[in-house]
Formats: sequence, C-alpha cells, structure tokens
Amino acid sequence: MMFPDYRPRRLRRTEALRGLVRETRLHPGHLVYPLFVAPGKGLKAPIDAMPGCHRWSVDTVVDEAKEVADLGVPAVILFGLPEKKDPQGSEAWAKNGVVQKAIRAIKKAVPGLVVITDVCLCEYTSHGHCGVLAKDRVDNDATLELLAKIALSHAQAGADMVAPSDMMDGRVGAIRSRLDDEGFDDVPIMSYAVKYASAFYGPFREAADCAPQFGDRRSYQMDPANAVEALREASLDMEEGADILMVKPAMPYLDIIRLLRQEFTLPVAAYHVSGEYAMIKAAAARGWIDETRVMLESLLSIRRAGADIILTYFAKDAARALA
Ligand code: PBG
Repeated sequence: MMFPDYRPRRLRRTEALRGLVRETRLHPGHLVYPLFVAPGKGLKAPIDAMPGCHRWSVDTVVDEAKEVADLGVPAVILFGLPEKKDPQGSEAWAKNGVVQKAIRAIKKAVPGLVVITDVCLCEYTSHGHCGVLAKDRVDNDATLELLAKIALSHAQAGADMVAPSDMMDGRVGAIRSRLDDEGFDDVPIMSYAVKYASAFYGPFREAADCAPQFGDRRSYQMDPANAVEALREASLDMEEGADILMVKPAMPYLDIIRLLRQEFTLPVAAYHVSGEYAMIKAAAARGWIDETRVMLESLLSIRRAGADIILTYFAKDAARALA
C-alpha cells in the first residue's frame, strides 16, 4: 500500500464513513459502576477526591442503583465501610454487614442489575491490610479461609458475582471450592488477577477508609515493573477457577490488558481506578481538558487494548454521554 494509490484519509471523510470502519466501540453495556456503602440512613456523603462519587447508606444506595440501571449500565460493584473494625476484619462476613444488607436491598429493588461484590479485608481490618497479620506480616494461608467466608456471605445474600481483590496466593481456589461446597457453583468469580501496588489507588483509600496503618501493600500486590509475572498470576487464577480476569489499574497498564487478551480466552476486565478518575476530574475542573472527550477516549482506549469489561467511576457519565 503506497501513496498516492492508497490514501487512508479517504475513509475518514465523513462521520458515517468513519463509523463504518471503526474497530472498537464503547457501550454502557460494558461498564460496571463502583458503589461505596456505609452505615446509617439517608446518607449521601461526597468523596472529596472523587467528585460526583458518594458514600451511600443501604436505603440511598438502592435509589442510586436504580439510576445506574436506568442509564443502561448493567452492573455495580459494592465496597463496604463497616460499623467497626478489628484485627480479623470480622464485619466483612457478618450476615447483617453493610454490604450483605445492600446486596439484599438492591437485588430486591432492581433484580436485573448485576451485583458484584469486592471481596477483601482491608476496609474491615483495624490495621488496613488485605489479610490477617502474623507478627506484622500478612499471613497468606490464614487469610484464605476468611476470604472464602466473605465470598460465601455475599453469595448467600444474593450477590451475582464475587471479585477478590486481596492478592493472596490461592484465594480464587479457596473461594471457588467454598462456594461449590455450599451450593453456589453458579456464582462466577471475577478475579483481580493482575493487581499492581499502585499509587493510583490514593482517592479510593480515602473513600473506603482502607489505607494500611503501617507499611504498604508491596508484599502482596504486584510490582508495576512486571509484565511476564502478570501471565503467571493470570494462569494461576484461571487454573483455580476464575471466570473473568481483571487488570488494575487500567490506563497505565494497557500493555498488560493487551497481553492477557492475547494469551487467555477468558473475558478480561480492567479497573479504571480512583486516581485515574481524579486526574481527569481535576484537570477538567481547571478547564485544562474537555472532560467528556477525555473520559470517552480513555474508556475507548481501554476497550481497544482488549478489555471486555471496564469498572469505572465514569460509568454513569459515560452512559449519559453515549446516549
Ligand atoms: C481493596 C481495593 C482497593 C481498590 C479496589 N479494591 C484498594 C487497594 O488495594 O489499596 C482500589 C480501587 C480504586 O482505586 O479505584 N483491596
């Protein structure tokens, strides 16, 4: 193909022509909206570093879930802020914990909405780590049993899917066998298979009140320098029974999304995380970028890299912009 015989601009002349040859599309049907649920009633507390996002109570989160569904977004992922924290994070698997209550309320009011739950301990432990401690170290194997309990409690409350985000070794297998033993073999696991120890989670840690009280998460989350290791993590999770493989964060790791898309046949999800959202919001608030266009281009890029599903705080805005 040589100029002047071949002229790529021919197919860019009109919007209709560009649409005909468009390779990737963005649709609300690919999106998952994260929701933060806290104790109380009538709560709608803005999250400073995530403009447009709130902490909800069980009563108000139901209305929010309805709005999400009405916009054509098919799924939400729930995060909980417990009444009280302890070293084990025991509120995480409480039958009447805030997430368990929210699952029941949302499934009752909006049965068609897919309710995914984040399975982790960091919002529930007093020390803020994603597992239980043994001498200031996160104890991998002791944590597995607790994660399985959390996932089971979510399934029992009616969750459509569970999403472990803790990065303990072996957690997908532990959760899968516990769910199967208890008759929940039809509840899929979306594994945060490739989750990096990222600074882009900053605003989320404020929103979910889950910053580690000492140290950091580098002994369990992945080193941002590694790509081949992502294949090992994803293989393990697939072998252990994951139904969907997630990469997190999204935009700084588009190469990893592409790698998983090429190497695996499971659906790939990408989490466009709080810091990615906050950067766009902050620059747009200063008038430095066009928020809607940057949002749509970002989400489209994540799809183009190979993500089937995108978890994003922009889900509602994007659905409106795409309508
Ligand atoms: C919990 C969890 C985190 C996020 C999702 N689940 C925080 C963390 O690992 O520190 C981050 C999401 C975001 O930044 O939007 N383990």
